[in-house]
Amino acid sequence: MSGPIPLIDVRAHQTRIGDQIRANINAVVDHGKWIMGPEVADFERSTEAFVGVDGVHALGCSNGTDALVLAMQALGVERGQAVICPAFTFVATAEAIAVLQAVPVFADVELDGFNVDPNAVRDAAKVAKDQGLTIAGICAVDLFGAPADYDALTTVAEELDCWLLSDAAQGFGGSYRGTKVGAVTDVTTTSFFPAKPLGCYGDGGMVLTTRPEIAEAVRSLRVHGKGTDKYDNVAIGQNSRLDTLQAAILLPKLAIFSDELDARDHVAARYAEGLADVVTVPTIRDDDRSAWAQYTIITDRRDVVQRALNDAQIGNAVYYPKPLHQQTGYAHFHLPAIDLERTEWLTTRVLSLPMYPYLSSDAVDRVIATVRGALAQ
Ligand SMILES: Cc1ncc(COP(=O)(O)O)c(C=O)c1O
Repeated sequence: MSGPIPLIDVRAHQTRIGDQIRANINAVVDHGKWIMGPEVADFERSTEAFVGVDGVHALGCSNGTDALVLAMQALGVERGQAVICPAFTFVATAEAIAVLQAVPVFADVELDGFNVDPNAVRDAAKVAKDQGLTIAGICAVDLFGAPADYDALTTVAEELDCWLLSDAAQGFGGSYRGTKVGAVTDVTTTSFFPAKPLGCYGDGGMVLTTRPEIAEAVRSLRVHGKGTDKYDNVAIGQNSRLDTLQAAILLPKLAIFSDELDARDHVAARYAEGLADVVTVPTIRDDDRSAWAQYTIITDRRDVVQRALNDAQIGNAVYYPKPLHQQTGYAHFHLPAIDLERTEWLTTRVLSLPMYPYLSSDAVDRVIATVRGALAQ
């Protein structure tokens, strides 16, 4: 096979369910309930069924960043309190903390798995406390789709007497020790940004929680902090609802999501088989499942590999070239006594390869051959 291979083909599912999606869009156009229409509740109930744990509440919202803000607000984070998060993540994790006038405290990650290291969280908490900060919570991230080490993180959260939130913008669809992401921690957030494993046709997000009072708070906060009387707002919230149109698009996508996750597993397994002897391939703990938002390798010769992929018109990207503590708007949060060496090491060596459920075996083999060819030089 020749021709370009995209990093992600966000339209590939349309050959399978495009007609259904167009029919759903038309139905919304016709019924006119464009804000909080019936598809929103339908999608929320379907997502709860997908997670499959009794008592889980799914609440749609505008995007994955707002989902984090809503979740942390519902958890009661206060101005000036610290929230520990990985230094190696997309900016939104720390942005949501900072928007609430709390203080993101960056912790180092594990080299295998890319996720926040529970021991590093402990160390970061100690440094933060020494600086006089109160730890409100930990916001772990399922980077590239693999769940963080939630049992160990729960232990650390108990020691610190703080909450544990899961930013599963990239991880929804995965599972931790047999439990689907969404019910692993008390509160989980996700994103339906088009490139995410379950993506919509614009912005969308969700808060999932097993705590009814958090669900109640998010239900209010996403609609300006409304009370039972529509014009007596009980909290300062925001306008952050999931559009009916996006829910209508997500419904048929959710129906084929399990199949797509299987297909992602196949792509990942083929990459691992073809590349494990020449680069470091991602490792997933035996009992866990990744949603494979990205397939990210580690190599000392990233430039060479990237050049070869570009020459072969194969999509690739560096997620993330700059850790949070080195970014202009966030560097002032960095506490220098916290060691972030592994994060910095990773940012110079990670490279994400094409990953989506409809990537053909021939295309995967071409990517593998190109990477191997580059490294054989
Ligand atoms: C780890 C992480 N957190 C949060 C977000 C924010 O999601 P959104 O783009 O829907 O606001 C993203 C994705 O963009 C992400 O990758």
